[in-house]
Amino acid sequence: MKASMYTTKYILDEFGITRQTLYNWIKNNEISQPETDWRGWRQWSNKNVGEIKRLIDNKKESADKAKQANEDERELYINNRRYLGSKHKLLPFIESTINEECKKYNSFADIFAGTGVVGGHFNTPKRKIIVNDLLYSNYLAYLTWFSDMEYSKDKINKYIEQLNNIKPYKENYVSENFGNSYFSYENALKIGAVREEIKGLQDAGLINARENAILVTSLIYAMDKVANTCGHYDAYRRSMDMLQPLRLIVPHIYDEANKNNEIYNTDTNILVRAIRPDVTYIDPPYNSRQYSDSYHLLENIATWNKPKVEGVAKKMLDRSHIKSSYCTSRAPQAFKDLVDNINSKYIVVSYNNMAQKGNGRSNAKISDEEILEILKLRGRVKVFDTDFKYFTAGKTNLTDHKERIFLCKCR
Ligand SMILES: C[S@@+](CC[C@H](N)C(=O)[O-])C[C@H]1O[C@@H](n2cnc3c(N)ncnc32)[C@H](O)[C@@H]1O
Repeated sequence: MKASMYTTKYILDEFGITRQTLYNWIKNNEISQPETDWRGWRQWSNKNVGEIKRLIDNKKESADKAKQANEDERELYINNRRYLGSKHKLLPFIESTINEECKKYNSFADIFAGTGVVGGHFNTPKRKIIVNDLLYSNYLAYLTWFSDMEYSKDKINKYIEQLNNIKPYKENYVSENFGNSYFSYENALKIGAVREEIKGLQDAGLINARENAILVTSLIYAMDKVANTCGHYDAYRRSMDMLQPLRLIVPHIYDEANKNNEIYNTDTNILVRAIRPDVTYIDPPYNSRQYSDSYHLLENIATWNKPKVEGVAKKMLDRSHIKSSYCTSRAPQAFKDLVDNINSKYIVVSYNNMAQKGNGRSNAKISDEEILEILKLRGRVKVFDTDFKYFTAGKTNLTDHKERIFLCKCR
């Protein structure tokens, strides 16, 4: 046998597969036919072995995705979406820190709420939450999960089924602009048709503002599951792998907890001047990556003004109203203005330790010293940290990355 050639038995043992499976893969052209020796016995090269390994990895990944999709399919929960900087996995750390340090608190403000998972975690029948974000797509999600405005569950079930059964037949804004790039052409066609239908229901007065928010949110979560991206809309993948059909799911809403919550869609530096929660939780963007750029497409669908889009990333031209000063060199001043104007017993800040580490775009905009200095003007500050695996688009891999909480007990 030539060097680095393997027998079929070796391959079967190595990968734990049956002879029948291996031959089926050859028959179905999933792997190449190996060479044979003078006896006609198959001889597997390193290239063949690599192909088999890749195929097994891909099959495992697809099976995991299908399993996750099955689980997600039953009911929709607030954390069933990808979002940069989501604190879903850090909730136990955030909760234990806050509960240990903050005496009785009846109201909790999540003022850079993103997905809303942090606010949602502190939302109980006895505690009021205040949630806010610059992005309208997030605001609609908060109306869905946290509002106490009336809505009809029967209507939502009926309309979601109807929307899932739409069979679009003509080009629309989404298929023209985002088909065969961010979404498969069929899914883009469906997204456009579903969004247009929701608009029609709203214009005809058949759904109220809450029901509209629930339907659009269900669509936005469904889009995330079929988007040909790695979780945000700064770019799409070159090859189109996301062919599974778009499917809207009914959100599981914890109605009992939703009493008198406040929901905003404004610049948080303006908002804090008008609210008085016991705890204010601050989780601003850390770096120069604007959320308006990463989630432009969701904003586009949420607002449904059908603006002209430009460039390879197909972003709407005017995003100035959703740009954050926390992603610019003005971040320290914005943070100081914010903290100075908070009316709370406790200020809790999440910020990671990336300052002066990683690549340029990932560099933190506010240094630890600045955060501490600014918070100390308001009261006694403690810092808590936890190890948290961090990576940026596979390029930087910093294992010593920590998520921190700065907790200030205000005077
Ligand atoms: C790090 S993310 C928050 C993630 C969130 N804690 C979660 O778990 O999903 C920061 C959020 O702040 C929002 N944002 C940025 N600047 C803002 C501002 N000036 N006012 C309100 N929201 C802002 C962004 O749109 C983004 O959703």
